[in-house]
Amino acid sequence: MPGQLAVVLGTRPEIVKLAPVIRALSSPPLMIHTGQHYDAEMAGVFFRAFGLEEPAHRLEIGGMSRGQQIGAAVSKLDEMLAELQPAAVIAQGDTNSTMATAVAANARSIPMVHVEAGLRSHDRNMPEEHNRVVADHLSDLCLAPTETALANLTAERIPEERIVVTGNTVVDAVLHLLPDRGARRSFLEHHGVEPSRFVLSTFHRPENVDDPERLQTIVDELGGLELEVLLPVHPRTREVAAANDIDLQSGGVRLLNPVDYVEFLALLSECALVVGDSGGLQEEVSVLKKPMVVVRNSTERPEVLGTFCSLVDVGPEISGSAGRWLAGEPHTAAELIDIPSPYGEGDAGQRSVEAIERFLETIY
Ligand code: UD1
Repeated sequence: MPGQLAVVLGTRPEIVKLAPVIRALSSPPLMIHTGQHYDAEMAGVFFRAFGLEEPAHRLEIGGMSRGQQIGAAVSKLDEMLAELQPAAVIAQGDTNSTMATAVAANARSIPMVHVEAGLRSHDRNMPEEHNRVVADHLSDLCLAPTETALANLTAERIPEERIVVTGNTVVDAVLHLLPDRGARRSFLEHHGVEPSRFVLSTFHRPENVDDPERLQTIVDELGGLELEVLLPVHPRTREVAAANDIDLQSGGVRLLNPVDYVEFLALLSECALVVGDSGGLQEEVSVLKKPMVVVRNSTERPEVLGTFCSLVDVGPEISGSAGRWLAGEPHTAAELIDIPSPYGEGDAGQRSVEAIERFLETIY
C-alpha cells in the first residue's frame, strides 16, 4: 500500500491551480508550503478561499535571490521528503518552488507529478522557462493542459507514456469561486466602478518591472487609457517602484493592495479589458470571455493569441492595442462569448487525479 501523497506549493498561482487537484483527491495529501510567497494576502487568504487547511509543513525561502531560493528549497525539501516518505510528490507550474521540488523528489527517488506540464515560451530569458523545462524532464508523470503542451513535451523526446492531457485546473478554480452577480456588483460598488467601464491590470514579470524605464513606460501607458484602471500591486512591483521613486499612480490608475481570488474574479468578470503580464490571467480571460493585452516579449500560452489575447511589447502598442479592443477590434465582447476556452470544461482536477491514480497503480 503506497503512503500519502505530498503536494508542494509556494506561490499564489500554485495554490489556485493545485486546489482543484487537492479537492479531488480521495484523501487529504501532506501539504508543504515553501514560503516563496509569504505575505498573508499572497498565501493564507488563498488557502481559505478554496476551503483548504493551511499547510502543516513549511519552509522559509521567501525574499531570497533565485539561486538561494532554489538551493534552500532543495536542501529543506530533501530533509522533509526523507522524513515524510510520500508515495509521490505533486507540484504545479514553473516557479522556483516547482523546479526545486522536482530536483528534491528526484534526488530522493520519489515519483514526481507535474501539473501544467509542457508550456513553452521558447524564451530563455525567463526564469520560468528554465524552471518548467527542468520540472518536466525530471517528472515521472506530466499532466499537460492542452494538445499544444503535449506536442511541446514530445518534441523534447519525453515519452508519451509519461504524459496525460487533462485540461487546465484554472478553469475548475474560476468556475468554483466566481461569485454570483449580486456579490460581483457589491465588489464593484466597493471600488466605485461600473461594469464594463474599467480596465483591470497587473504587472510583476522581472522583464517588465525590474527595469525602471520599462516600468515607467507601462505606468505612463496605463495612465493614458480612456477608462479608469484598477491595479492591484504585486509585492515585486511595489518594491521596484519604491526603490526607483516611480509613482505607480498615473492618470486614471487606481492602486489596490493584492486582492483575494474571489474579489479578483469579481473584478475580472466585470471589467472591459485586462492589461498585464500574468501567465494565468491569459487562461482566466478565456473562461470569463474578456479581452487581454498581454505585455510581454513572448508567451507560453499561444492557444489564446488571436482570440482572447493580443501580445504587445512595452511601448505605445499597449495603449494602441487597448484602444482597439475597447473599440471592438479584433473582437467585440459579444463575439468573445462564443469562443470556447482552449483550457477545458472545468474537470481538469478530476482528470488529473484519475491520471495520478492510474500512474500509482503502475508503480506500487
Ligand atoms: C513568482 C514566480 C512567477 C509567478 C509569480 C506569481 C519564479 C521565478 N517566479 O514571481 O513565475 O508568476 O511568483 O506571483 O518563481 N515578495 C513579498 N511578499 C510575498 C512574496 C514576494 O514581499 O508574499 C517579494 C519578495 O521578497 C521578492 C519579490 O516580491 O523581492 C518577488 O517575489 P518572488 O517570489 O521572488 O517572485 P515573483 O515575482 O512573485
